Order: sequence, then C-alpha cells, then structure tokens
Amino acid sequence: MSSLFDLTGKVALVTGGTKGIGRSIAKGYAAAGADVVITGRRQPGCDEAAAELSDELSDELGDELAGRAVRGFACHMGEWDQIDALVDRVYDELGRMDVLVNNAGINPALVAVADCTEAYFDKVYAVNLKGPVRLAGVAAPRMGQHGGGSIINVTTMGVYRVGPGAGIYTSSKAALHNITQVMASEWAGLGVRVNSMAPGPFMSEMMRGSMRFDPEIPERLGQGTMMKRVADCDEIIGLALYLASDAASYVTGHDYKIGGGM
Ligand SMILES: NC(=O)c1ccc[n+]([C@@H]2O[C@H](COP(=O)([O-])OP(=O)(O)OC[C@H]3O[C@@H](n4cnc5c(N)ncnc54)[C@H](OP(=O)(O)O)[C@@H]3O)[C@@H](O)[C@H]2O)c1
Repeated sequence: MSSLFDLTGKVALVTGGTKGIGRSIAKGYAAAGADVVITGRRQPGCDEAAAELSDELSDELGDELAGRAVRGFACHMGEWDQIDALVDRVYDELGRMDVLVNNAGINPALVAVADCTEAYFDKVYAVNLKGPVRLAGVAAPRMGQHGGGSIINVTTMGVYRVGPGAGIYTSSKAALHNITQVMASEWAGLGVRVNSMAPGPFMSEMMRGSMRFDPEIPERLGQGTMMKRVADCDEIIGLALYLASDAASYVTGHDYKIGGGM
C-alpha cells in the first residue's frame, strides 16, 4: 500500500518552499521520491534553502536520495510574467510537472477594512490570488499533455472563521478556495485534480511575524483549537502527500481543513 504515496519519477513545484509550511511540504515530497522545485522571491534565498533541504535529506536518506536534489527558482508570485517564465523553466530543466502546490502567501499586517489602502489590497491579492490563479492556469494544460497531475491551493481556516483586521487576507484566500472548485471542474478532463488545504495555526515565519503585533497570538490561536496548540510545520506533510499522490486518485474539487479541530 505504501506505493500509493510514492512520488518516484514525479516533479513537484512548491511555491514559497523556502520557509515554513512550504519548506515542510517540499521536504516531504522529496523524501517520497519526487524531484522538487521550491520558489521564493529572491534567487540567493532559494539557493540557500534548496541547499539546506538537500543536505537535510541526504543526512536522513543517504543513498536513497541518489541524484535527486531540491532546486530553487526565484519567482515573485505577484508578477504575471515571472510565473509564465517559472513554468517554462521547470519544463526546460526537469521535463514535466506532476504536482503544483500554490503555497506562497502573505498576511503582512492587521488592517481594518476601512483603513485598507489600494496598495495594500493589490499587494495581498496579487500574491494570494492573482499569482496562484495564473500559475495553475499555465501549468494545468501542460500537465494535461503528459497525463495530468495534482494541484493543491493553500488557503486558511480563516476562510471559515473570520475576525476583525484580517479580512483582506482571508477574503483573498476565500476567493482561492472558490476558484479551486472551478479549476477542478475545468481540468478534470485533462486528468488534473485540484484541491485546497485550509491550515489552522502553524508555527512558521508568518506566525512569528504576527507575534510582532501580538506576542500572545500562538497561545490564543492554539487555545482556539480542540488540541489546544499550534502545529509544527511538518504536520502538514501527511495531508500534502496524500493529495499529491495516487492515494487521492478520486479526490478533486475538495477542501481539506487541517486545524487541530479549530
Ligand atoms: N502559518 C500559519 O499559521 C498559516 C495558517 C493558515 C494559512 N497559512 C498559509 O500557508 C501558506 C504558507 O504560510 P507560512 O506560514 O509557511 O508562511 P511563511 O513562513 O511566511 O513562508 C512564506 C513563503 O512564501 C514565500 N513568499 C512570500 N511572498 C512571496 C512572493 N511575493 N512571491 C513568492 N514567494 C513569496 C516566502 O519566500 P521568500 O521569503 O524566500 O520570498 C516563503 O517561502 C500561506 O499561503 C499562508 O497564507 C499559514
């Protein structure tokens, strides 16, 4: 049965794989046998994270890693043209893409709706919605040419549970949640499955950034879950691997909450 979760021979692209949840997903996919590309905004950061992940994996897996390495390709998710170039680069250098995780996302500040500027709105929506939509839109037809694949859009439990100050962020993710189902319906015929994961609180760089405004935030968010804690980033791996793999061959257009009972 373990072959259901095997990604040997597959190529996975994880946006925002330099840190946090995306880094853990990339590590999980590489350990399951995939060639993995991670992205971030700047090439030096991508190179550094890719080298660190490759070292970590080779310490854990030794010879099993055999020739596989994590690669880092810079791409700003808010820049339409960079996204087209990213997909070209993955196909030029690795020949295919079987899994795409639209993970990169931002939630830079607590901003009430009445205080939101045009620049803030455009920045958050560009990275959280425009970029993922374009990336999936360029990748899916190409995946379809070699038998299909799996696209996973990372949203948030904030799609379901809202509060003051985070509405620009949560509404951008709610739109991504909605369009996930549209993508699934448009690309089922290509063999491309599209699902979303909605995380609750995870201890990532984003969470540490939020602690600048509210040091108690992990404790408060943890208390809002049944499990009374925030998650470690590696706790995303099981669900991300399931959705990417043949274990989820009949799963498309669905949303998976991963929030400790939030
Ligand atoms: N942590 C949580 O509690 C939580 C909860 C719900 C949902 N989520 C969602 O989970 C995803 C990952 O979050 P995280 O907490 O792991 O975040 P994180 O620790 O802040 O990491 C964000 C990643 O996205 C990349 N990134 C940021 N802006 C980018 C841009 N404009 N273009 C390309 N890449 C960019 C960063 O790369 P560089 O810095 O190298 O550019 C980094 O790799 C996000 O979509 C977030 O909304 C997180």
